[in-house]
Amino acid sequence: MTVPLVATAIAHPNIALIKYWGKRDVAENLPAVGSLSVTLDAMCSRTRVCFEPGRKGDSVRLNGREDAGAASRISACLDLLRRRAGVGHGALVDTDNDFPTAAGLASSASGFAALVTAAAAALGLDLPARELARVARLGSGSAPRSLFGGFVVLRNAPDGDVAVEPLLPAPAWPLRVVIAIVATAPKETGSRDGMAASRATSPYYGEWLRSHDADLEAGLRGVRDRDFAALAGVAEHNCLKMHAVMLTTRPPLIYWSPTTLACLQLVQSLRRAGTPVFFTIDAGPQVKAVCEPGAAALVRDALAAVPGVMQVIDSGLGPGAHCTDG
Ligand code: DP6
Repeated sequence: MTVPLVATAIAHPNIALIKYWGKRDVAENLPAVGSLSVTLDAMCSRTRVCFEPGRKGDSVRLNGREDAGAASRISACLDLLRRRAGVGHGALVDTDNDFPTAAGLASSASGFAALVTAAAAALGLDLPARELARVARLGSGSAPRSLFGGFVVLRNAPDGDVAVEPLLPAPAWPLRVVIAIVATAPKETGSRDGMAASRATSPYYGEWLRSHDADLEAGLRGVRDRDFAALAGVAEHNCLKMHAVMLTTRPPLIYWSPTTLACLQLVQSLRRAGTPVFFTIDAGPQVKAVCEPGAAALVRDALAAVPGVMQVIDSGLGPGAHCTDG
């Protein structure tokens, strides 16, 4: 069989409603806890992978610029797929994000989901999602979740690796995610270093691990029952618990800005007044407000009016990673 050696894939970022923070194996990049996410449709990473016969090593361009920093994680994923396909060629990887990179908008998740999808297709490998997930998680622990659309759960599998599966397709519960962009600069401490520091120094890290399964199960129940209030309660609690771990890390990981807190308080006051909305915040200052479709316009306008909010993105839930022609 001849393999195309070139393919392009699109993947969308995902936002965790029940978070992953901490690793049980740093070298293998295995998450310490499971997570529950929604895949978004408003933003995407588009990645083209071209394997070139005779080429040594991989070269990576991110948003049109050579990116040597990302190359080793990308090569680790490509090496696994090359070994599977029995191909030794180096690759040219071109990836573009239509949203700010590395500012807490999960660009690594969509980037690595698009990368493994494109690379597997370029090498003629028809791998089940379970196997693609195991390659993608080497790049980023949250990346396997972007292989699927809608609501997605990632768990630690009995064999010691991760297992990712779709929970509910997007149309089954078409929630919206309104993202308040508060800053576009890359964060000071990336997830990888932050997680290692939390594990080593936060006195709350053990409690985070101990109580996490219960949060995940409650989140899964909320999604299966389409119980917005139940999901809102556990998602905000789990998010704040993760930030409590971050804040009590030494040195502290303070990802919030004053505008982050203003948005968070706004979301809480909207919900108290009866609007079906809750917040979640990752390793960055942006606030993601998850709401029922009928509340999206109100939430969007309210967040846009908060001083310091630079831009508001209103997203539906999107599809999983897939190949495209171009
Ligand atoms: C706070 O997947 O970016 O967004 O595996 O080190 O690449 P690495 O981390 P990453 O971490 C995501 C952390 C989070 C929570 C989440 O998305 O679950």
